[in-house]
Amino acid sequence: MTARIIDGKTIAAGLRGNVTDAVHRLRRDRGLVPGLAVVLVGQNPASEVYVRNKSKAVTEAGMYPFDQHLPEDVSEAGLLDLIARLNADENVNGILVQLPLPPQIDSQKVISAIDPAKDVDGFHPLNVGRLASGVAALVPCTPLGCIFLAKTVHASLAGLEAVVIGRSNIVGKPLVQLLLAENATVTIVHSKTRDLETVCRRADLLVAAMGRPEMVRGGWIKPGATVIDVGINRVAGQHAGKSRIVGDVAFSEAAAIAGAITPVPGGVGPMTIACLLLNTLRAACAQKGLPAPQIGK
Ligand code: GUN
Repeated sequence: MTARIIDGKTIAAGLRGNVTDAVHRLRRDRGLVPGLAVVLVGQNPASEVYVRNKSKAVTEAGMYPFDQHLPEDVSEAGLLDLIARLNADENVNGILVQLPLPPQIDSQKVISAIDPAKDVDGFHPLNVGRLASGVAALVPCTPLGCIFLAKTVHASLAGLEAVVIGRSNIVGKPLVQLLLAENATVTIVHSKTRDLETVCRRADLLVAAMGRPEMVRGGWIKPGATVIDVGINRVAGQHAGKSRIVGDVAFSEAAAIAGAITPVPGGVGPMTIACLLLNTLRAACAQKGLPAPQIGK
């Protein structure tokens, strides 16, 4: 079998187009332009790339970017002060603080300081609790993107055996909640799980989000399964000094067995940004008492 490739780039472009259209209508009919503040602390090269891509996408969607770049040695109080100003700014509808943060800053304290209504990452404890309780919430962008991609293969996820590898707060744990809300049967596995391979081989839907380059091998996959690869790992290339990006799944082995699979790059990555734009639009509408945009339902 050769798996169908789930083209995240094209699917994300469609979602971004819908968000852009909704933003134009909002500006035309209500004079409202959603604004997103992306906060970067320090000079982590990977974070710099992510933040640049996010800000560019915000502008392309017709929204206002409020980029904030703080020095590596900024104090926790300094960052909390910025968050307080962004919380109070009516033109800022969404706030994203790029993680990881430098060691002098308590990330959880910073996340908890963001107004939950502007928490487009869905990391605030209130939004985490809402998602776990099945109440409408701003939900983390990468897991939301995974659900969109899975639904391009399965009209319904109800009753599917879903296995999520990785238990991070950013991907694994919220993805479990989203899959439960879709009525999937969900198992989460991690580095201490016994016989990982056997559990993975049960999955109709396998999501790899543990940040280990090409750890999931072809033999871990049930024939015909859908495989979503969240990993973005930089590894040495074939030529000296060159590097390349690989996922958490050994792609060619997996593609020979799976029914459908996301590539890396070009799978989940573009969906994360598209979902960030969607969350910013949703947050702006909710803050102004407007109905939620009917996108991605
Ligand atoms: N670092 C890696 N992924 C993310 C994300 O989705 N949001 C934020 N804020 N930081 C990240």
